[in-house]
Amino acid sequence: RGRRFLLAIESTCDETAAAIITDDLQVLSSVVASQEELHRRYAGVVPELAARAHVERIVPVIDEAIRRASLKPADLDLIAVAHTPGLAGSLIVGVSAAKALSVALEKPLVALNHLHAHIYACRMAAARDVFPCLGLIVSGGHTSLYHCRTSTEFEPLGGTIDDAAGEAFDKVATLLGLSYPGGPAIAKAAEQGNPRAYQFPRGLRGKSGGFDFSFSGLKTAVRYEIWGPGQPIDGPPPLSEQQVADIAASFQFAVVESLAEKTKAALQHTLLPRLCVGGGVAANRLLRTRLREVCDQLRVELHFAPPELCTDNAVMGAIAWEMFAAGNFADLDLDVLPGLVR
Ligand code: KG4
Ligand code: ZN
Repeated sequence: RGRRFLLAIESTCDETAAAIITDDLQVLSSVVASQEELHRRYAGVVPELAARAHVERIVPVIDEAIRRASLKPADLDLIAVAHTPGLAGSLIVGVSAAKALSVALEKPLVALNHLHAHIYACRMAAARDVFPCLGLIVSGGHTSLYHCRTSTEFEPLGGTIDDAAGEAFDKVATLLGLSYPGGPAIAKAAEQGNPRAYQFPRGLRGKSGGFDFSFSGLKTAVRYEIWGPGQPIDGPPPLSEQQVADIAASFQFAVVESLAEKTKAALQHTLLPRLCVGGGVAANRLLRTRLREVCDQLRVELHFAPPELCTDNAVMGAIAWEMFAAGNFADLDLDVLPGLVR
């Protein structure tokens, strides 16, 4: 063991990433080319720009990952790529590169679900098994709960029916005149604010929503708080610094309470012994504190992916070794699935 080499490729959204991981889960290299700068002026990811940037970067990023692991392409034993969910144009770049390498090197191909990989980031950090677990993914593109029975059996319990949690942070930050990405900016502004200054709605609260989330109503409530219904958004928000801080704190509180409440209900429903949390919003301090309280109360083990494995990366693609062991390979007619299937 430990002598076989996986090349994992990630290009689902706005990060071009590649990593080399051995079959005993040692990370030999990890390269991430972020496009944050490219999308900042639009305060969100522009799909066409993302796809073009992936095209420019995919080969250098893969090259660099192989070089940093002191390997040659012929040394690789397995190629893996995230093919769902994500932006179509972005996914196609990674999937095409993976297929080409699989054909050229005559090595097997594994197709990854990007959300399963986000949960697997906790396994990479824990250095021991974390299954079965409840998986919570909170990122710019996704807000999902999974019942993870084993490292290859993921049953979706719920997800957002509109905006992702991170997307809501980004959009509300724009409304408040804060910088992109909005999550860290709102968290910082919230430090000086009162989380109970405004009563913002919590989407799909209580049993009726099952384990689904909704954040668009919250976003609209913030917009109306700033500009009033029917009033157009016109330049920077007419707010004092304290009002910005209070809205940021109240908004953050509402998002975190929604996430914590549904996660707690899912833990009580499934009776799973641990919770694994991944995705960019998992960096949020208030969310971490609240989930810690929930897990302590329920006597559930809690795992957070480390910061560098919370945002998109290829190391979490090490889940490919689990699929390899299960004999779950992809054919060369592998297609991208931009919408989430499971
Ligand atoms: O996982 P990620 O890179 O997103 C996707 O690729 O989908 O995470 C990025 C998201 C952004 O929406 C950003 O605003 C949010 O994570 N984020 C945070 C924090 N740090 C990043 N949200 C809340 N609090 C934070 N500290
Ligand atoms: Zn992601």
